[in-house]
Amino acid sequence: MKQSFLAALLAVNLVQTHAATSTNQAPAEGVTIDTSATNLETVKETPAQRDARMAWWRAAKFGLFLHWGVYSVPAGKYGNNTGYGEWIMNSAKIPVSEYQNFARQFNPVKYDPELWVKMAKDAGMRYIVITAKHHEGFAMYPSEASKWNIADATPYKKDLLGPLVSAAKAEGLKIGFYYSQSQDWNNPGGAKAGYLEGDGWDDAHKGSYDDYLKNVAVPQVKEILTRYPIDILWWDTPMYMTPQRVAPLAALTKLRPGLITNNRLGGGLGDTATPEQFVPVTGYPGDWETCMTMNDHWGYNANDQRWKSSTELIRKLAEICSKGGNFLLNIGPTSQGEFPPTSIERLHDIGQWLRVNGDSIYGTTRGPFPYLAWGVATRKGGTLYLHVLDWPQDGKLCVPLSSPAKSATLLASGKKLSVTRPGGKLTIVVPTVAPDPADSVIALKIEGEPVTAPLPSVGAKATASAWLPGSEPANAFDGTGEKCWRAPADVKSAWLEAELGKADTIEAFGLDEPDVWPRLNQKYTLEAFLHDSWQKVAEGKTGGHGVKKTITAVTAQKFRLTMECDKGSPGVAELQLYRVE
Ligand code: GLC
Repeated sequence: MKQSFLAALLAVNLVQTHAATSTNQAPAEGVTIDTSATNLETVKETPAQRDARMAWWRAAKFGLFLHWGVYSVPAGKYGNNTGYGEWIMNSAKIPVSEYQNFARQFNPVKYDPELWVKMAKDAGMRYIVITAKHHEGFAMYPSEASKWNIADATPYKKDLLGPLVSAAKAEGLKIGFYYSQSQDWNNPGGAKAGYLEGDGWDDAHKGSYDDYLKNVAVPQVKEILTRYPIDILWWDTPMYMTPQRVAPLAALTKLRPGLITNNRLGGGLGDTATPEQFVPVTGYPGDWETCMTMNDHWGYNANDQRWKSSTELIRKLAEICSKGGNFLLNIGPTSQGEFPPTSIERLHDIGQWLRVNGDSIYGTTRGPFPYLAWGVATRKGGTLYLHVLDWPQDGKLCVPLSSPAKSATLLASGKKLSVTRPGGKLTIVVPTVAPDPADSVIALKIEGEPVTAPLPSVGAKATASAWLPGSEPANAFDGTGEKCWRAPADVKSAWLEAELGKADTIEAFGLDEPDVWPRLNQKYTLEAFLHDSWQKVAEGKTGGHGVKKTITAVTAQKFRLTMECDKGSPGVAELQLYRVE
């Protein structure tokens, strides 16, 4: 079974805790870190300082995630089961001593950090985040806090991280480390998902979680932050992270001024929200980054051939940027130290697309349209980048925008396109064949602020058959995706209703599940109130993240969504109804 992030434990909370300075410098001198700290007081910063600290990250948009560790040796296979990834040790309940034998075969002699950086850079990626220690507990650098590390436990014996940091810096890429602070399946006491604190599937696991934090996690985070000039620290799966346990780790982040952290440390800290394997229909108001695999695993799995196409990945990048997020796209290198060829092909294709269309991605902000039938849009000041994914057959692209347009240009060729407004509808006359089947971009220059119509569902009058305190029906229509509507745990089926104030013609909808683990994967039914009765307009399953779908256009004033959840507590983070433009 594939396991994943315990997002239920997290809140998107952009507490500002760092000074706004560059990271290309030695650790802050004279900073005394009190690792016994038990309060969460960290360096305060003004909104302007925060903006300055986040500026490179916000402009970068596209990064490479690398899940690399001892799990690349079994490469997803244990016994007859070939479906594992970096969770193999926990999923297959491999005893510690047996798992440690894999390290004897971890000898990545083909590892070429300069080549990796070059491939990432050519793909248009502006930063890299690599696993310094994943849940298997293995340190990819020589650590003094645990013998379970690259120098002491493998024939390779050399640091893997330092050379990548140097290579990235030399090419002007930012570099970050992923560090699994809670879960550690080798060092005694480290958290083991599925087990109570201090316990695991092997007697060797038994131990104190606090001792593990004190003797392994805290010293290792200190090693990482003092030895390597990293720009990002990417925490994961915060199990048992009370404020007292978060505090010493949070305090260490001061060692690296300018550091950017994600929201998976615990305690509501962190700069960036981390939707995993999905693109939220709304995006989120603060800084956020979708992380995603190219196939179905983070760590290398030799048998996983369920690859997303280059076109899908290019479209994901555009969609994420259109909602104001970053895209952290994963590769699981082999135990030899190579990227799988299929991953390299995708890097190559995305790079080619970005060389032509990079202006529509880097440095952009969220687009102004809550919905476009034919694609998505990003924005840079007075230029809207229209990413046309579904090219109009009749050569006319309708843009639901009231603001005056100055010019439209096809990004790929520089060709000027004529803009008209028949019947008041902004229309761009385009060639009959899409210049790029993956995503053709039109740069539309406009006058003033973009004026678009709000969604009929945002702010709709909401009611539901049941809800938990704090998870009121209105949360599903607040347009942010941050808070949820959810029914109590003893309820398996519940409905949510939106009264739009006036009849509207709806041709598509989007919904996000609450971002919790395990995923809810609910059954949904959407109905419209027509001729005095409820009529079904769509039904299906969420797939564990959410749904975006077109329907036969329907005009109604009231819509009802029924969610059914076997685990109990059905709900949604957001339901958006999109009108015909
Ligand atoms: C998770 C998983 C993990 C993966 C990560 C990426 O929480 O536990 O294996 O590293 O998500 O987001």
